[in-house]
Amino acid sequence: MTLKDMRDVPVSTGNATSLACLEQATELFLGYFNDPIAVIDAALAEDPGFVMGHCFRAGVLATTTDKALVPELEKSVAAAKALSAKANDRERRHMAAAEAWLHGDFRRSVALYGDILIDYPRDVAALQLAHLGDFYLGQSMMLRDRVARVLPDWDASTPGYGYVMGMHAFGLEETGDYGRAEERARVALAMNRRDPWAVHAGAHVMEMQGRLADGIEWLGSRAPDWSHDNGFAFHNWWHLALYRLDLGQVERVLELYDTAIRPKRSDVVLEMIDAAAMLWRLHLRGIELKQRWDELAESWAPRAGEAYYAFNDAHAMMTLVASGREREADRLLANVVASAAGSGTNAMMAREVGVPVCRALHAFGRGDYDTAIDLLMPVRAIAHRFGGSHAQRDLLSLTLIEAALRAGRGRLARALLAERTELKPASPFAWAMTARALDAAGDRPAAARARRTAEGLAGSMGMPRPRVGRLSAAQ
Ligand SMILES: [Fe+2]
Repeated sequence: MTLKDMRDVPVSTGNATSLACLEQATELFLGYFNDPIAVIDAALAEDPGFVMGHCFRAGVLATTTDKALVPELEKSVAAAKALSAKANDRERRHMAAAEAWLHGDFRRSVALYGDILIDYPRDVAALQLAHLGDFYLGQSMMLRDRVARVLPDWDASTPGYGYVMGMHAFGLEETGDYGRAEERARVALAMNRRDPWAVHAGAHVMEMQGRLADGIEWLGSRAPDWSHDNGFAFHNWWHLALYRLDLGQVERVLELYDTAIRPKRSDVVLEMIDAAAMLWRLHLRGIELKQRWDELAESWAPRAGEAYYAFNDAHAMMTLVASGREREADRLLANVVASAAGSGTNAMMAREVGVPVCRALHAFGRGDYDTAIDLLMPVRAIAHRFGGSHAQRDLLSLTLIEAALRAGRGRLARALLAERTELKPASPFAWAMTARALDAAGDRPAAARARRTAEGLAGSMGMPRPRVGRLSAAQ
């Protein structure tokens, strides 16, 4: 028995209630609202033979990148496969994609989800899963083009079209097409103002262009739409904190950290990543964060042996290094090195990016800034291979700049900061750091000019003088 979903995609069930639950769970998944797994679990409790329910559950679990959820993923894959005989072609392909993820072949999994869309372009769950997969694999071009491929089969009358626009907006942003990305994010939000991914795409545009006041307005004015009951809100709050950080508003950043990014202990790995990434940015500025690091380390320390996904490992390493947990940091490094010798997508990620990045962070923590520089300089150019966004990976550049300054390599820091001021000419932080670099390079007049630029920019936005960390006076 076969029904079709609201996008005319075949589902091998005759149970209209199960299908309605799947539609509801899909809508929650597309909007990151809580909690698609609970909805699909309720449907499966009533109808354990609901094939697409198991496939959907497996996909959602895979895209958490959380090793702790692998046993649940395994259960869903097994339950789906046991129903293969009654599954349709699309569902069998979902099973194969989820199974590839389960076996650590993330690249093949994402390719399989993507291939489903060639034949079923309105399979919006496959689209979302492939889109998230492209993000985890750092496949910027596919973030844009995989969505573009399905556009001829969608229009404003297709349910969920706004979400597709939001995905395309993010892909356009990650490939540097900022004007079209912002335009598309606005189109998505005109259709559905409660689309946190479209809001997020716009936030990335403003982050990359250094449009700090615009970014604060963009997120701040829409907060009621994206922040309530939303599993992605922590990340949009994180983006708001990034603008504040660029403006030197450290107190506001800490307030956002304590109230919105990490308001309480969470062992959700995606949330732990943003918490670590924000604290590390503050740590680079010499800001005292001991209690916050200690609290976060309680969540990361048990994962020091996982080596499941190198991008996560890098954030675990920041936390262990900054919280002074040397033994666990050593263990993590050994495990990441060992995982690089294994098989599967993560082995490649670890080998090419995870190991040098973790070693660099480890060295930075020991005060061995020259080693950190040697490791970060080459890996920065290929760091997209372990996934994440440009804004997230910017942390590697910030670490490299700080290492160069602390190692007294002013000319290197100056060169790296020239990249930054070219991309973000209105960033007070970039100019304040440039002043530090010029001081270190011995060019006092240019340093004074850069400092005046930083102060002028901060002043023009009604902000206090940018704080650039405790070492600024010494450099
Ligand atoms: Fe982001």
